[in-house]
Amino acid sequence: MKTILVTGGAGYIGSHTVVELLFAGYNLVIIDNLCNSSCVALERVEKISGRALTFVKADIRDAEALDQIFSEHAVDAVIHFAGLKAVGESTQVPLNYYDNNVNGTLVLLQAMQRAGVFKLVFSSSATVYGDPAEVPIRESFPTSATNPYGRSKLMIEEMLKDLSVSDSRWGIVLLRYFNPVGAHSSGLIGEDPQGIPNNLVPYVSQVAVGKLQELSVFGDDYPTKDGTGVRDYIHVVDLAKGHLKSLDRIKEDSGVLIYNLGTGTGYSVLEIITAFEKVSGQSIGYKIAPRRSGDIAECWADSDLAKKELKWQAELGLDAMMRDSWNWQNKNPQGYQSDH
Ligand code: NAD
Ligand code: WQD
Repeated sequence: MKTILVTGGAGYIGSHTVVELLFAGYNLVIIDNLCNSSCVALERVEKISGRALTFVKADIRDAEALDQIFSEHAVDAVIHFAGLKAVGESTQVPLNYYDNNVNGTLVLLQAMQRAGVFKLVFSSSATVYGDPAEVPIRESFPTSATNPYGRSKLMIEEMLKDLSVSDSRWGIVLLRYFNPVGAHSSGLIGEDPQGIPNNLVPYVSQVAVGKLQELSVFGDDYPTKDGTGVRDYIHVVDLAKGHLKSLDRIKEDSGVLIYNLGTGTGYSVLEIITAFEKVSGQSIGYKIAPRRSGDIAECWADSDLAKKELKWQAELGLDAMMRDSWNWQNKNPQGYQSDH
């Protein structure tokens, strides 16, 4: 497989994956409507890789734009990142989430079918495990959704399973990401949330750089090691590499394969703060606040299946995750905006 269509390639995980794909010698076409990203990210990717990108600014729900891409490029496989991802927002505007994520994927799959492209790597999420009965979480655990975002991921997973049953030419990998953090070690690309961050590490980074005053720690009365929520944080570059391993896996295989991408280790909110302070030398002001609605106590992956079948495992530890998050935020206090 030489040519890959990357949807959502200007986004946080997409841009880091594009870098790894370019270094591995793939030819890429990127489609992104830039609704949650900046073309500056792609310029920075070109700088890191020394390669020019083929970028199409379009929506994945635009069937004509997709048909044109497939007719102009001999695409062998698609890595599908494009989608909306804010849990809270999804409860306010659920139809946007079903349209963008579910309908968008449907339009993409139809275009792939028309073009005879049957290999897909899809960005799913640990959110499909809902509130798991135990940790670590295995791929065989029951799935459920507690919000429209998570439900959109589950609906897509189901759609992809039905599709692969209907036609054995489909080879599909569903990657269930745990909590992606960190940035490329160059500090040129990273996570650039619009407005006030929802996620812990971007929030901590913006406190460290002085953009936000203090962190609210959502609950210190969970049944965890120190009472705060525990998650499986994974470096975005490790995550990116998991996509290349997935492409290797579906080269010849068909059906739907499901893998957790996590480190297998859980860290609490307080451990994240301490680790960030250590690598950045900044002190992170925080206060204990009430629990955030919908949060679970703890969540981490059993990632043995990915190790066995994808020959993939996370290599970067907590210090590298925090160091690279800080390096990115410190060099780009306004994110990509500083380049406009
Ligand atoms: P992101 O918002 O940074 O990237 C998504 C990209 O898709 C953006 O560049 C956005 O402009 C683009 N996009 C959205 N809708 C589009 C559409 N209709 N047409 C074309 N482009 C569109 O998010 P991310 O963190 O890089 O996440 C990538 C994928 O991974 C998403 O599907 C997300 O749900 C999933 N995921 C993310 C996390 C996380 O915590 N970041 C965890 C689990 C799963
Ligand atoms: C981590 C921990 C919070 C912010 C979310 C989505 C999930 C997935 C990844 C896409 C929790 C605590 C956070 C803050 C805090 N996305 N926290 N103060 O909730 O595990 O997962 O992003 O698929 O679907 O739900 O990640 O980074 O928001 O929170 O105390 O300001 O940090 O309570 O324990 P979460 P997070």
